[in-house]
Amino acid sequence: MSRRRIIAGNWKMNKTPSEAVALCAELKDLVKNDAVDVVYCVPAIDIVPVVEAVKGTNVIVGAENFYIEDKGAFTGEISAPMLKDAGVTYIIIGHSERRDIFGENDILINAKVKKAFASGLKPILCCGESLALRKAGTYAEWIRRQITWDLSGVTADQVKELVIAYEPIWAIGTGETATADQAQEVCKMIRDLIAELYDAATAEAVRIQYGGAMNAGNAAELLSKPDIDGGLIGGASLKADFGQIVNA
Ligand code: 13P
Repeated sequence: MSRRRIIAGNWKMNKTPSEAVALCAELKDLVKNDAVDVVYCVPAIDIVPVVEAVKGTNVIVGAENFYIEDKGAFTGEISAPMLKDAGVTYIIIGHSERRDIFGENDILINAKVKKAFASGLKPILCCGESLALRKAGTYAEWIRRQITWDLSGVTADQVKELVIAYEPIWAIGTGETATADQAQEVCKMIRDLIAELYDAATAEAVRIQYGGAMNAGNAAELLSKPDIDGGLIGGASLKADFGQIVNA
């Protein structure tokens, strides 16, 4: 089975609504590629104008965060039904910035994965190790534990629709990319874990991205690896380079 490539931008906390619309216009012709899923994961306030701005193009809209309840007294939060109604398809869950800066743990992340599927959103589930764990050589156990927790109670049919993003924290926003071999090693390990937790067909179907300083210069090599099915891109998703990554 061949998996469809997925190149997703994570805009993080960048772009006002008017800047977001301008970026969509700048990228419009550069990201045309019907063989690839192209996703813009944007700040909540940009979702409505971005959905409008990409109408009629191949771009799919994603969100960066949500809360697990549908509605109610949760000041400052947005819900999965709100995202769905606004035209969102993908949702980033478990990004290291949410884990480290906002204190999200694997229990909440697991609840978010299940809620996203129940609400018709497709999760992009992030995992990855710190520099200390990489140096200690215990990164594989760490990532296995994250994914095992985060997918507790998630069905094989759901995992077939899941995207997992391997994002080593030491390579995020630092300009230091994992080598293609380092990234492939972990992405393969994740696929083997899915085979162990589920079955071979599920492991074959799940899409696994690399994220961390992916750019126009290194994307082609990373994406040539057999277990790397796409990228989750921060900084380079905010400029014309994103088009080169989509077409790498
Ligand atoms: P950079 O591409 O800026 O390193 O960010 C990666 C990332 O965190 C994507 O989610």
